[in-house]
Amino acid sequence: MAKYFITTPIYYVNARPHVGHMYTAVAADVMARHYRNQGSEVLLSTGVDENSQKNVEAAEKAGIPIQKYVDQMAQVWKESFDGIQITYDTFIRTTSKEHETAVHAMVDAMQARGDIYLGDYQGYYCVGCEEFIAEKDLSEGKCTIHKTEPKVIQEKNYFFKLTKYRDALLAWYKNSPDAVRPESARNKMLSYITDEMQDISISRQAGKWGIRFPQDDSHAVYVWFDALINYLTVTGYPSQGYEKMWPADLHLIGKDIIKFHCAIWPAMLMSAELPLPNTIFAHGFFTINGEKISKSLGDAIDPRDLLKDYPLDAIRYYLLREIPFGNDGDFSVVRLKERFNSELANGIGNLVSRTLTLVEKNCPNIAFVKGQSLDVSSHIEHLAFDKALTDIWHEIARLDGVIDEKKPWELAKAGKSDELETVLQSVLAGIANISHELEALLPETAESIQGLLSASPIKKPAEPLFARKD
Ligand code: ME8
Ligand code: MG
Repeated sequence: MAKYFITTPIYYVNARPHVGHMYTAVAADVMARHYRNQGSEVLLSTGVDENSQKNVEAAEKAGIPIQKYVDQMAQVWKESFDGIQITYDTFIRTTSKEHETAVHAMVDAMQARGDIYLGDYQGYYCVGCEEFIAEKDLSEGKCTIHKTEPKVIQEKNYFFKLTKYRDALLAWYKNSPDAVRPESARNKMLSYITDEMQDISISRQAGKWGIRFPQDDSHAVYVWFDALINYLTVTGYPSQGYEKMWPADLHLIGKDIIKFHCAIWPAMLMSAELPLPNTIFAHGFFTINGEKISKSLGDAIDPRDLLKDYPLDAIRYYLLREIPFGNDGDFSVVRLKERFNSELANGIGNLVSRTLTLVEKNCPNIAFVKGQSLDVSSHIEHLAFDKALTDIWHEIARLDGVIDEKKPWELAKAGKSDELETVLQSVLAGIANISHELEALLPETAESIQGLLSASPIKKPAEPLFARKD
């Protein structure tokens, strides 16, 4: 049996999830459902990044002890993903014992390779990014993403000899042209690895919160170094059997974190002599007025608010269809409503309703087989969700065209029942095909349509699949 291991980033719990996190989760969920439907053994992993200074600051602000704060927030994130029906198989928390074991095993393996040394660090640190920032990347002294001034940090840190892996990373990029996608992320990383990459500090001397550094518990492991290792933890690493799922088939991330995933992480794996992931795909940002929606900027759209107005599949549809996966685009409730009315209520909803109304009236016991004219698997496997949906909506338009042209109601009036049945059979076959292709993308819709089609006798829907909004 083929396996398919897909991961999402693990999220900081300094605030509740917003549509940006839902975006990654939904895309990962589509892939997981798709491969499960193909018969693969799937591991979809998501979770939370708890050892961050951002979380400590949020806990202080909330006046709650840090451990209690992360316990509460981990639950909030888990429930949020449950609320939007993300079919994750594991939900990792980085304060767990298993994770600490994996992190220690990894540091030990890298140390054994001679890749870790003690050095001095001095530089600017953005807590929002949880990352050192070069002076040239600041804008008016501030981080361009978080709009805050970085801290100046000077301390002894353990370093990872990242530069030792420069050539090996470049060779990997060359030999695996599909490993880092899309092209824009690949090109950025090739230039980063070639021109900018330096050894990185992987511990914090001042860190009170976080995983202790092996053999030197006066240091905490740097949160990004610990966070990346979550992908191994969920496979059971370092216990035997982790090789069943490792390496990841797909690390799905946003383009804000490519450097960590596409340069540092593969180098860490090389150092520990572990296999590299097959693909890392970085999607773009949902923006508001051109700025990335973010927890820190406080313009977050809460999925719960959207769910008050729209069914889950309508939001999935909008997220997957609005912007080609990999690009940026504005999140607009106006566009969501437009697409809802024209493509869901009028598009698929109307096709199903008009077809089943005709069937109920004229031939409710009609037999038909699912059509094969449409197959969007290859688009899904290439993460081209917008293309998959576009193809499905072309098929919806084609079937609407068949009904408009053949006018089954006139065939009924003229008593041409054989011809009438042939037309409705072909439309039903097409709708069955559509519902099949929608299983991973819009699972509730697929299920509703399949329920209607398998009823005998066939009846028109008691209520519309998507009721128009004014
Ligand atoms: O970076 N549009 O966590 P994080 C699209 N803990 N996607 C968005 C988005 C937006 N406006 N905002 C957030 C971290 N995302 C680290 C990751 S992984 C080992 C550690 C999504 O809470 C997107 O997937 O800041 C992005 O990469 C991720 O949330 C960042 O989440
Ligand atoms: Mg972030």
